Amino acid sequence: MKNTFICIGKSCLAFLGVLILIVVGLFCWLFATSPGVLPPLVDEHGVIIPNQISERVSVPIGGMNQVLFLRGYDKTNPILLYLHGGPGSPTLPFMPASGPILEYEKSFTVCYWDQRGAGASRNGTKEELQFNMTRMIADAHEVTSYLKKRFGQEKILLVGHSWGSLLGVKVIRQNPEDYYAYFGIGQMANQLESERLSYAYMLNHAKEIGDARAVKALESVDINDPHFPTSSYLMGVRSMYQTKYKIGIFHTDKVSMVEAMMNFVTFKGYKLKEKFGFLLGTRDQVKEIVYGPFNENLIETERIFDIPFFVIQGDWDLQVSAVLAKKYVDVIQAPQKEYIEIPNTSHAPHLEEPILFAEALLSLIKKYNIPYIKSKIADDTEGRPKTGDASEL
Ligand SMILES: *[C@@H]1O[C@H](CO)[C@@H](O)[C@H](O)[C@H]1NC(C)=O
Ligand SMILES: *[C@@H]1O[C@H](CO)[C@@H](O)[C@H](O)[C@H]1NC(C)=O
Ligand SMILES: *[C@@H]1O[C@H](CO)[C@@H](O)[C@H](O)[C@H]1NC(C)=O
Repeated sequence: MKNTFICIGKSCLAFLGVLILIVVGLFCWLFATSPGVLPPLVDEHGVIIPNQISERVSVPIGGMNQVLFLRGYDKTNPILLYLHGGPGSPTLPFMPASGPILEYEKSFTVCYWDQRGAGASRNGTKEELQFNMTRMIADAHEVTSYLKKRFGQEKILLVGHSWGSLLGVKVIRQNPEDYYAYFGIGQMANQLESERLSYAYMLNHAKEIGDARAVKALESVDINDPHFPTSSYLMGVRSMYQTKYKIGIFHTDKVSMVEAMMNFVTFKGYKLKEKFGFLLGTRDQVKEIVYGPFNENLIETERIFDIPFFVIQGDWDLQVSAVLAKKYVDVIQAPQKEYIEIPNTSHAPHLEEPILFAEALLSLIKKYNIPYIKSKIADDTEGRPKTGDASEL
């Protein structure tokens, strides 16, 4: 190669010097952008929103410290606990620090809990970080108790996304008295069947458009193998073609993966060490559930609920099948239930169409008269509990 840098004497030193400066500079920048503190929420002019809340708190949950991020435009708004997916993949770090993508934070104080073993909740022994469904359900109850006490609420609202929707179903079965209502996004129902449906769609589509490479990759997978879907299939061929065919996380180009990654890299809520730990958390947890909880068919096992049960799904979601999510809502018994699709979105309608998502959430609360109770803030000097209901919306 003619153009290879030729490293002789002084120029070599200069080159090394520049290289070291770049690496050190990059590291300093990463370090500076990772203070482990959430900045306050600002409006479109960069002015801090007067009554906002934007906080990282470390709370003892289930014998170890776990991290919660609390965000909202008005700290007297009702409380909504968000169960992230993965398992092991908190959502907040991938979202922009402000902007319409967080539209529902205008109407709710959202608690983004980094579940045991995920994100910043990794300060524990190996045993404590081990994936354990029973313990996670108990953790969710403790997180909820913390929120109820801190914000003076009798009950809160619960949202579960993806894996968090399976956890959410278990949580509301075990502790229905904690919640006014449950909202599933990318709702799981029968994930093994969902994987088969997604596989069939991808293979058929690949043939239709003449994507020979995809056909070959997919045909090398045996969907009747007892080990289907393996974690290497989930993270490899499946992830690649779900993205390519727009049936995975996003259906449109409204949010780019690169943008999401940059949000993570520059996310202020994590320390640098936690950003590296995040990747280990995702890897360890996904490995654990592939043959375990993911294979439970909720359509058979969990059909009766004591609280209102709503699903807001992307119409193109084949990562967690929209068809099966609808079927699930059709068969369950709940005091109130409804299935809503957000058009032209797939597995993350709340990120892809944040305004439509917030509207769907609020319209359900209004339509079914779900209590919309303002929070009483312990440290609020004016401190009167404010009550309200859906008619305020
Ligand atoms: C990690 O947990 C230990 C034991 O609970 C605690 O003493 C320590 O302060 C925690 N470290 C961090 C960084 O939170
Ligand atoms: C899971 O957690 C529960 C509750 O803390 C505990 O009783 C059980 O032994 C744990 N299971 C495993 C396999 O560690
Ligand atoms: C969905 O996207 C298609 C193609 O971009 C567009 O034609 C259609 O109007 C969109 N539908 C809705 C309901 O937004």
